[in-house]
Amino acid sequence: MPRPRTPSDEIPVEALSEAQARRELARLARLIARHDRLYHAEDRPEISDAAYDALRRRNEAIEKRFPHLTRADSPSRAVGAPPSPAFRKVRHALPMLSLQNAMTLEDVREWLESVRQFLRELQDPRTPIDLACEPKIDGVSCSLRYEAGRLVQAATRGDGQEGEEVTANARTIADIPQRLAGAGWPALLEVRGEVFMTDEDFLRLNEQQERAGGKRFANPRNAAAGSLRQLDPAVTAGRPLHFAAHGWGELSAPLAATQSEAMQRLRGFGFRLCEPAARVRVAGPEAEALRAYYERLEAERSRLGFTIDGIVLKIDRLEWQARLGVVSRSPRWAIAWKFPPERGVTVVEEILCQVGRTGKITPVARLAPIGIGGVLVRRATLHNADEIARKDIRVGDAVVVQRAGDVIPQVVAVLPERRPPESRPFVFPERCPACGSRLVRQEGEADTYCPAGLVCPAQAVERLKHFVSRGAFDIKGLGEKHLTLFYAKGLIRTPPDIFTLEERDGSELAPLSTWEGWGEKSAQNLFAAIRRAREIPLERFIYALGIRQVGEATARLLARRYRTLERWRQSLTAALAPESEERAELLALDGIGPSVAADLLGFFAAEANREVLEALTRPRPDGRPLVTVRPASEGPAAASRLAGKTVVFTGTLQSMTRSEAKARAEALGANVAGSVSRKTDFVVAGPGAGAKEKKARELGIRVIGEEEWLKLSGEG
Ligand code: IVH
Repeated sequence: MPRPRTPSDEIPVEALSEAQARRELARLARLIARHDRLYHAEDRPEISDAAYDALRRRNEAIEKRFPHLTRADSPSRAVGAPPSPAFRKVRHALPMLSLQNAMTLEDVREWLESVRQFLRELQDPRTPIDLACEPKIDGVSCSLRYEAGRLVQAATRGDGQEGEEVTANARTIADIPQRLAGAGWPALLEVRGEVFMTDEDFLRLNEQQERAGGKRFANPRNAAAGSLRQLDPAVTAGRPLHFAAHGWGELSAPLAATQSEAMQRLRGFGFRLCEPAARVRVAGPEAEALRAYYERLEAERSRLGFTIDGIVLKIDRLEWQARLGVVSRSPRWAIAWKFPPERGVTVVEEILCQVGRTGKITPVARLAPIGIGGVLVRRATLHNADEIARKDIRVGDAVVVQRAGDVIPQVVAVLPERRPPESRPFVFPERCPACGSRLVRQEGEADTYCPAGLVCPAQAVERLKHFVSRGAFDIKGLGEKHLTLFYAKGLIRTPPDIFTLEERDGSELAPLSTWEGWGEKSAQNLFAAIRRAREIPLERFIYALGIRQVGEATARLLARRYRTLERWRQSLTAALAPESEERAELLALDGIGPSVAADLLGFFAAEANREVLEALTRPRPDGRPLVTVRPASEGPAAASRLAGKTVVFTGTLQSMTRSEAKARAEALGANVAGSVSRKTDFVVAGPGAGAKEKKARELGIRVIGEEEWLKLSGEG
């Protein structure tokens, strides 16, 4: 009788034959992948952390004994969990944009004026412009992709470039057609719009949540977002979500010549639109017709049954939209005119001073919690010392607080009649609440700073927070709480420490997995998230450095201009010399004013900053740096003859305005500079060109006329 075979999982590693080891590694790879999925993607682990760790240890021990059997899909090679299958990341074929905001009719007029400035045929203010006007629904945007009339993918906006796939959930929303209605739809059609919840459904959902012991949502938008991003589509199906279309993304054929006609076609395909909509014509400096629409919607606002936070105005003619294009993630052809912020009255319980990453001290009022426009407000910014003094805001005061969209609530005014008799004016601190350094306020400046830089723990932690934040290294699982703890323990003081955390684990302090509140798995998850972040595009790297005034848009601009980290670093280091070419080049960059340039140079002038850069990017003993910075993506523009070239426009152009010419050059990957330097590749000179053309000729730089420019940029 054959002896029963011992299952390979019970054989000690030392006793495994090679064949058994091979089988066992295959089994472990499958098993560990399954538990990873259950844990990360489905939030329902089936085994204890200890049992999971034992599986991984066994896998490693077998690989150590039989290194040649290590599988391509071995758990020891995988960095962390695969993205959650429900929320696979998808790259949008065309970016999902945001909108520039107007608060007043004056802002809207200015915008219209900028449109006229841009498009040559609109220079005469009497030329009429049609605008497609719609309510701005306060929901979450979603892009629906239809191929041959069938819904094949739904994605959230995400960061505008990449969103999360939520197809199964979107299929449960009644307003979203699974198949397009009518006929004549383009073979490929991406419909974009807003997923939202009615106010009544939101209140009912919160009641249900409360009864079931679940979490309450702060407002209808959060409720819609939370309901759309459910791992289980059955949960989404039970939530009363709606969808209203407001535009489109990729298309295989144009829909119409105007926005309003295109929207009507979408209606014909079975979509609900953002309503009540209207087409409004403006001519001359008056924009009264727009005010009428705005006031009408403001009056109807409370009867619509869903939350709107303003109106959206879009240039109706699509050819103009295309030419106006996009600037820094918002189209030039649309604007959101917001309703005035909502207000409420509450009491200031305490005034705290927060230290930001640049050392700026921001006074903040802790308020008796108050609901404003469906959101519970507990804090309001007080901006700076002058603002507190001007409004004479004191602890104990009853104050009017306003909240507009996602911005931090503000204190508008104090109600003096309700001031307690014993109240005293607020005294701004003289010392930093975090490190005790004496605070400084420069002559003529409104803000007060802690001068201690990285020596101040609050600033150091704020910088680290910024470094790992979403637009930067985006390291999930390394939040404020952890950074503060690691900082206090001395484990992470500067950005490079983040990336050496794993290799130092256990050498300075007890291993992270033994800390209270941590386990082997949470420690491994954190290390995996950090490992995943070790490759980053240049623009995000620059943004992560937290240089004063260098936000995402400026970081993108710099990345596009300098392309590689090495070039950026070398050029800016060289630009520290006042008379250098590199300094001139930096100052000539369109979009970088003298004050931003000064902050950039200030960053490079500080040795501590140069050291951080060096430590992050210098090759280590294994030949790899802590962080690999990918050159700026060249995008479709890379192929153009203008890519990477520096162009200066001077004089008048006949066929288009200077703004349009500049926008087109940028879209083709060129850098448009305001002044001529040795780095200029060519100058486009029209009639009336003067000093710039002269300088270009002196420097031997190519000067071309408008016709040649049109050829180069693809017209004519
Ligand atoms: S048009 C080109 N129209 O507002 C940008 N957006 O603050 C496309 N939104 O991300 C937007 N109602 O999700 C447009 N009638 C409407 C809208 C609307 C709500 C959202 C949209 C966008 C956000 C920008």
